[in-house]
Amino acid sequence: MVIEQELSIREKSIVFIGFMGVGKTTVAKLVAKKLYRDFIDIDQEIEKEFQMPITQIFDQLGEKKFREKERKYVLHYCKQPLKVISLGGGAFMQEEIREACLKHSIVFYLDISWESWKERLHMLVDSRPVLQNKSIQDIHSLFNERKTFYEEHNSRLLTDDYNPEEVADYIIDSLKLAWELYD
Ligand code: S3P
Repeated sequence: MVIEQELSIREKSIVFIGFMGVGKTTVAKLVAKKLYRDFIDIDQEIEKEFQMPITQIFDQLGEKKFREKERKYVLHYCKQPLKVISLGGGAFMQEEIREACLKHSIVFYLDISWESWKERLHMLVDSRPVLQNKSIQDIHSLFNERKTFYEEHNSRLLTDDYNPEEVADYIIDSLKLAWELYD
């Protein structure tokens, strides 16, 4: 029998979720630096393993293979102490990933309004296979569907009016409060 030792709230890793292009990687990197923790980007781990960019992984190996690897890496890292982890925007669609992250880590949902997000679409489409060959209506539906899954989180921030530095500072302040209150 494997007995998993529950991590204290201070030791738990911090996991960032949210739609593509919201700024999870940028914010996670800043938070990791400010807290002197390791930064892990799940997409980068998968790219390293296959030695190819995400678009090529989707093209040559298929989305199913990508999702399997995504699950493997998230389940591994979310249980480790003291990491700051950025998840791909589709990872939280997998129930096993949601359950593991909510059990073992602290999940921050970086939210953005559709109006603000739309402005970023042109910068994202080439590197995000999930957005390719879709109409704006299809993408809007995907945006709304995903929101339902992101609703399962520990803390949420609407990022529309803040830059990454401000978002990172807000998150660190709220973490410090939680550590003081619940540790
Ligand atoms: C995906 C989001 C991407 C990447 C892949 C699939 C998705 O990550 O994992 O292209 O399904 O939403 P970002 O959220 O970092 O763009």
